[in-house]
Amino acid sequence: MQIQWYPGHMHKASKELKQILPSIDLIIEVLDARIPFSSQNPMLASIRGDKPCIKILNKDDLADEKTTQQWQDYLDQQKGIKTLAVNMSHPDRIKQLTALCHKMVVDKKESDRPLNAVIMGIPNVGKSTIINILAGRAIAKTGNEPAVTKGQQRIALKSHNILLFDTPGMLWGNIENRNSGYRLAATGAIKDTAIDIDDIGFFTADYLIQTYPQMIMERYQLENTPRTELELLEALGRKRGCLRSGGVVDLVKASKILLTELRAGILGKITLETPKIMEQELKQTAIIIAKKEAKKSAKKIGKK
Ligand code: G4P
Repeated sequence: MQIQWYPGHMHKASKELKQILPSIDLIIEVLDARIPFSSQNPMLASIRGDKPCIKILNKDDLADEKTTQQWQDYLDQQKGIKTLAVNMSHPDRIKQLTALCHKMVVDKKESDRPLNAVIMGIPNVGKSTIINILAGRAIAKTGNEPAVTKGQQRIALKSHNILLFDTPGMLWGNIENRNSGYRLAATGAIKDTAIDIDDIGFFTADYLIQTYPQMIMERYQLENTPRTELELLEALGRKRGCLRSGGVVDLVKASKILLTELRAGILGKITLETPKIMEQELKQTAIIIAKKEAKKSAKKIGKK
């Protein structure tokens, strides 16, 4: 799997964030409720210091309700963090954000100046949709092509006394964690042209067999739970006529069907990671980074 993470852009984005941070009262990070770990900015924890932060779990209409609750319980325990699970079909829930912002910024209470909040999120996470709902009009462009929000802008939510600093949608990704890349691709945050679709199909099929076997059996009318990801994609491909000459299943076509139905919520409400998975993967990532660092140091010493 080859994914371009644009570390240069990530660096620029964190530099810009650090620059405006002194004048910011609160950070709003929009996450995809289906992948709250993989859609987060891995640098935010270290950049934000003790600034309060609201993590919006957006698109919760597509996510597994039980797991969304697990994520909220997990994140709400962290210092200075509050979560809000929302989706665009319930603008009333999105509008609760403004009251929550004021509740979380205590030291501004005496002042008349607007509350300064910065809003960030990976492309396609639904940031523009949220901004438009808060502003009550179309300010930010929306669309399914990742990276439609370009350039920073400030939006005055006058009736709420909030000044919103909008940042460009940035794909920060967890560079060392391959699985995060797969999940970003499975949910559509990374363009289909950027990676091998059957790779994503295999990753997703494997997870679905482990976590949501009933849903896939119902959707694809399977009598037994497939034992492997290949078995699932082949069974799906056969049912949907994705066959090449000789009756061989076209795995790319089968993967496309699986991913399209996952993204549209046709398979059901599905979340691709849990706090437990995140903790395991963070440990693995730490080992990979430590090994890389050790290799680098050994090389340096060798050169000397
Ligand atoms: P961005 O600024 O973060 O890049 O995202 P944007 O608001 O443009 O939204 C990206 C896509 O996600 C849009 O779909 C939007 O409708 C969809 N979306 C946003 N919020 C939600 C949500 O809560 N639930 C679901 N299911 N989808 C959401 P699109 O197909 O590109 O556009 P359109 O069909 O809405 O025109």
